[in-house]
Amino acid sequence: MTDRKEQFERLDGIIAKWKDVPGGLLPIMQNAQDIFGCVDGEVEKYIAEATGVPVTTIFGVATFYSQFTLQPRGKYTIGLCLGTACYVRGAQKVMDELEKQLAIEVGNTTSDGLFTLEATRCIGCCGLAPAMMVNDDVFGKLDPSQVSGILEKYRKLG
Ligand code: FES
Repeated sequence: MTDRKEQFERLDGIIAKWKDVPGGLLPIMQNAQDIFGCVDGEVEKYIAEATGVPVTTIFGVATFYSQFTLQPRGKYTIGLCLGTACYVRGAQKVMDELEKQLAIEVGNTTSDGLFTLEATRCIGCCGLAPAMMVNDDVFGKLDPSQVSGILEKYRKLG
């Protein structure tokens, strides 16, 4: 993985290119997202200092556009569907169990950097409700008792 210093050097190049261009903040942030995988507090502060744009503005942009992630993603992104079909078949109970087992709330990443937990809209597998994805793998007809086994599978992969 590229080290942080090198990532900031790349960001410096991007900032130099866009800093004085009207509307340049968005491409700077998009590039920052690509370089770091997220626009976290440190990256926001760095962009603010380098561009003179208040950090509150940068935070506002980062939270307004869904393309920006505010914290590093885990190796595995768990996207549990909370669409109607999944919801009525008990997806919330699966979510409660995921939050309990991962010891995080939805929208967050575990401290070991392994899992990011997200709620999604319909993922197109309503027949398998409640359904979730872990990266590209689909799991369906879930019930809370399956959660620990699924997490264990990915923990073993590391
Ligand atoms: S509502 Fe969950 S897959 Fe469609």
